[in-house]
Amino acid sequence: MAALIPRMHLFEFEDQAWFPSSIRNYMTDFLRYSTVRMQLHRPMVQILTSMINRTGTPKIVDLCSGGGGLLAAIQRDIRKAGRPGTSITFTDKYPNAEALSAICREQPSALQFEVASVDATAVPARLRGIRTMFSAFHHFRPEIAQQILGDSAASGQGIAVFEISRRSILGLVPMLLSPLGTWLMTPFIRPLTPGRLFFTYVVPLVPFFVMWDGIVSAFRTYTVDEMKAMVAGLGGNTLEWEAGIADAPFGYKVTYLVGVPR
Ligand SMILES: C[S@@+](CC[C@H](N)C(=O)[O-])C[C@H]1O[C@@H](n2cnc3c(N)ncnc32)[C@H](O)[C@@H]1O
Repeated sequence: MAALIPRMHLFEFEDQAWFPSSIRNYMTDFLRYSTVRMQLHRPMVQILTSMINRTGTPKIVDLCSGGGGLLAAIQRDIRKAGRPGTSITFTDKYPNAEALSAICREQPSALQFEVASVDATAVPARLRGIRTMFSAFHHFRPEIAQQILGDSAASGQGIAVFEISRRSILGLVPMLLSPLGTWLMTPFIRPLTPGRLFFTYVVPLVPFFVMWDGIVSAFRTYTVDEMKAMVAGLGGNTLEWEAGIADAPFGYKVTYLVGVPR
């Protein structure tokens, strides 16, 4: 589907190595809390369960995990749907160690995270399993995004990319409203530290950066057609590609691209 707005790869604070990790972590914590709270993972459960069933691979290697995003909620639902053995390794270039260790403590036998930085453009060969990426594919310019997909195909690992942001006028609305979301939801995010409260309510850096990065994310998000063009002829016969849009609660649309090993 074509977007009304041309793609622009503007500046996101979260991508910068110099950006303070505490503020990045408050942002990714908010992203996890708000998306789980709104149950935006619902359409993703079906897509991932079907991938796991088709490949027989119960292992997921999550790239660009941030504060864990929707994956722990997805895993709970996949278990309920009758695939109890699914395990997840969370990774990120700038790991939110505090949030990820709290999530992994809940199910130490099934959830783990890489303490060291893992760049999604150079996934270590030892990390094997279906690669997932939530709200992060837009961080990569087209040629790099295509390399990420190509590397999955070359290493014979399935990949599933999900985007909640959309490159459209309507897609900008939740981003413009996100400061309100941060102010309303922050009291429920754990741990509720003085720093989180200070940078949300007194010096509102978190709401500002969430809004800025959210708007930039919308401008960077790939359409289904652009994703399809990226994978046309990619990976030969290794992966079977499918891209589409699925409905999520609150009028959200999830754009997805999956590559399933043949
Ligand atoms: C918008 S957040 C998404 C976090 C999480 N997946 C979620 O859904 O809440 C994007 C994440 O991508 C990470 N990131 C950015 N560039 C990366 C790279 N080259 N390799 C791995 N992670 C990267 C950032 O550190 C950040 O945690």
